[in-house]
Amino acid sequence: MDSALRFLTGFQHLLLVALTSIGLVRAVTLGASPASAVALTVAFLGWYVLGVVFSRRRRVHGGAGPGAPASRETERTGRVPGATSGAGSAVLVWLLGLTALWLVLVALSAEFVWVAFSLWLLAGHFLPWRWSVPYALAVLAVVVVAPWHALGVLTVAGVIGPAIGALFALIVSWGQVQLVRYGVERERLIASLVEAQAEAESLHAQLAATQREAGALGERARLSRDIHDTLAQGFSSIVLLARSAEEVTDRTRQRELLRHIQSTASENLHEARRVVASLAPRQLDGATLPTSLRRLLDSFTDQTGIPTDLRLDGQLDALPTALEVALVRTLQGALANVRRHAHATRVVVSLSETTDSVRLDVVDDGIGFDPRAVDSRPHAPEAGGYGLSSTRARLRELGGGLDVESAPGEGTALTAHVPLRAGVAG
Ligand SMILES: Nc1ncnc2c1ncn2[C@@H]1O[C@H](COP(=O)(O)OP(=O)(O)O)[C@@H](O)[C@H]1O
Ligand SMILES: [Mg+2]
Repeated sequence: MDSALRFLTGFQHLLLVALTSIGLVRAVTLGASPASAVALTVAFLGWYVLGVVFSRRRRVHGGAGPGAPASRETERTGRVPGATSGAGSAVLVWLLGLTALWLVLVALSAEFVWVAFSLWLLAGHFLPWRWSVPYALAVLAVVVVAPWHALGVLTVAGVIGPAIGALFALIVSWGQVQLVRYGVERERLIASLVEAQAEAESLHAQLAATQREAGALGERARLSRDIHDTLAQGFSSIVLLARSAEEVTDRTRQRELLRHIQSTASENLHEARRVVASLAPRQLDGATLPTSLRRLLDSFTDQTGIPTDLRLDGQLDALPTALEVALVRTLQGALANVRRHAHATRVVVSLSETTDSVRLDVVDDGIGFDPRAVDSRPHAPEAGGYGLSSTRARLRELGGGLDVESAPGEGTALTAHVPLRAGVAG
């Protein structure tokens, strides 16, 4: 595109020089004074070159000028500069000067009329239609009248030939201006594409960073839940066991409590290592979910003396690990609450699998509480009240949920449910 335009521009310079030279030779041959013919031709070409040089400099410094179809103003506005702008009026002065010199040449010899073709081309480039058309007609009039005046004959060809030339020149330069405009448009399009791509890249990077951040936050929440559900619960039972050991006078019972303390502490130690290694809970070590729940309940009964019951319904083996971990953690949290708050005499746990979900119920016959009052409490882990909400969050993460049914004096029933497809990916 650029090289095509450069070729066109070069061709136009060449054409002007050629037409002027032919005019000069013909004029001198036909008897014009060689001295004036050469002087005027040099003046005409000099003025033309002056404009071209000036336009090149303007182009480098950001302006428009003659002899430059791809002038800056045209590039910037996509419009042929009008005579009203600063650069435009310079073009106009230059073109009028060139036309005046040409008129003197024609007055010297009608052989110079053919240079008009170059003038039409220039007009098409640098003038808006409302100026270029009258200008072209005026030049055409000179081209028709000068030979007529010189030779005394007016032929139809002498009118139609130049008219077609004028029309052709205007159309060619119009096409050239369109080419420039198209090139500018294309450049603009490419620039905006590049910009859009850069923007997309930065958005992508931002998204990745956000995802990383969200992943880190999720991991942190999971970790704090694990610490709450296992380590904190373990330590709180150790505290409770130690307190009763202090109060008990019977040596055998005391030894039994100390054994519980020891086993709970060593379990906690294992859990701490698990949490650090971010592995599945210890109770799951190679066992199926029912076995793991049974172990938890046995150890709970051992430590509290509260009898438990486990009811199973469905296949319940080979469940996704994430789901098993969530349900083990749910039971751990529920048992910790029974131990700390319920004063229950019995706990019944049911695990059932349907075609598309697994459900865990933990029911105790303790003092109960008002779940709405708990829900409206401000959440501060150190103030307690973190257990139920973290269990709920863990289950929701898998697409499931937790329902709490309780009222003061009426015991408590927790229902956890998780869709089976949950955790298949995790
Ligand atoms: N099985 C239950 N029996 C009686 N009250 C309970 C039971 N489970 C939970 N609660 C009440 O709900 C509150 C919130 O429980 P939770 O979210 O586990 O926090 P935390 O156990 O740390 O207090 C408890 O403080 C307690 O008052
Ligand atoms: Mg709790």
